[in-house]
Amino acid sequence: MEPQRQNLKPATRLSLRRYHISEEYGFLLCSPLKELPDQYRPWMEIANKLPHLIESHQLRAHVHKMPLLDCRFLKSHREQRLAHLVLAAITMGFVWQEGETQPQKVLPRTLAIPFVEVSRKLGLPAILVHSDLVLTNWTKRNPEGPWEISNLEAIISFPGGESLRAFILVTVLVEKAAAPGIKALVQGVEAVLQRSQDALLQALQQLRLSIQDITRALAQMHDYVDPDIFYTVIRIFLSGWKDNPAMPTGLVYEGVATEPLRYSGGSAAQSSVLQAFDEFLGIRHCKESVGFLQRMRDYMPPSHKAFLEDLHSSPSLRNYVLTSGAGSCLVAYNQCVEALAELRSHHINMVARYIISAAAKARSRMLSHLLPHALEDRGTGGTAVMSFLKSIKEKTVEAILQPCA
Ligand code: HEM
Repeated sequence: MEPQRQNLKPATRLSLRRYHISEEYGFLLCSPLKELPDQYRPWMEIANKLPHLIESHQLRAHVHKMPLLDCRFLKSHREQRLAHLVLAAITMGFVWQEGETQPQKVLPRTLAIPFVEVSRKLGLPAILVHSDLVLTNWTKRNPEGPWEISNLEAIISFPGGESLRAFILVTVLVEKAAAPGIKALVQGVEAVLQRSQDALLQALQQLRLSIQDITRALAQMHDYVDPDIFYTVIRIFLSGWKDNPAMPTGLVYEGVATEPLRYSGGSAAQSSVLQAFDEFLGIRHCKESVGFLQRMRDYMPPSHKAFLEDLHSSPSLRNYVLTSGAGSCLVAYNQCVEALAELRSHHINMVARYIISAAAKARSRMLSHLLPHALEDRGTGGTAVMSFLKSIKEKTVEAILQPCA
């Protein structure tokens, strides 16, 4: 049996609304805005032309002409979220416009000051994060239409054409597929508190179905995203300035701090979905992985991070399953863990194709002088990819419970 958790809030009911999580959309922002108030037009004009400005090497010149705008007129949460996405996207383009060999190491004050200000309001770091690129960056073409790639659009884009668009939108579909699973977690915690085996069984079954839906959604990456474009174009714009040899000292945010700041790049490791499942299922990773995963929580909206922490403080599902003697719950628990391990296997295969093989292919084409060398075997979040992901998957498998004798 796992060691007793510190049940800080054992009697508190979890409610998704308290954490700004939606039953329908999960961690996705509901109805993200596409426009900012009129006084922020200079930002929107650049952001809406971002792929073209980067590809034609004009973005840096446009940024240098940007006026300094005051963030005080960003009133609503959704306005602040769009502003963060817009300023983050312009920042990534500005830093990496000329590729990995010539990053910009100083962010001009007209960009740095408002970006840091809006980041403080939201409790997010001043860099592009998963909550920008994915959670805040989707819209449905036909609002009544289906949740399919063909009916979705990204609000802000980078170079990479259709592959970039699909990379964002498949991840949106993954987050959407997770929504019933997140709802099931709350029902599962409540079932454990009430010691209701029937309710727990239902919650676990719902969670397994949701994990399987996520795996199916994830597989669409292979249909729509070209590995070469991902590796040689898209990935660079997600790269950060922490643990990245291309930017060893970090980025100076002019007008904010004299010392450079270091932040990890955007990665779906900043999604709260799998961390929430791990917390609920009581899956424990090794020390090094935990260090990285915990750090990724600082790149999530604070309310989502708080949800993970409160899940951690909830009564242990594993202990309940083992001690309640409900064989059906144990089977259902194990099916969730197996589905999660399978999802992680698919993800590993994807990383093998989109990073490891794509890097080898690019090297063999003698393009290596153009490539983000330092990033070859590292994720955009800065990890040594394969050993990290394999360890995470192995620890998932190890969580499978044996029935008590
Ligand atoms: C082309 C597609 C993808 C690639 C190449 C990729 C790559 C990676 C890499 C390299 C890592 C290691 C951490 C880092 O350094 O960033 C990682 C971790 C992770 N990725 Fe992805 N990823 C992809 C799509 C996704 C999607 C769509 C999701 C779903 C939200 C996702 C969820 C995760 C999670 C949760 C982790 C942390 C490890 C875990 O909990 O298993 N990834 N990914």
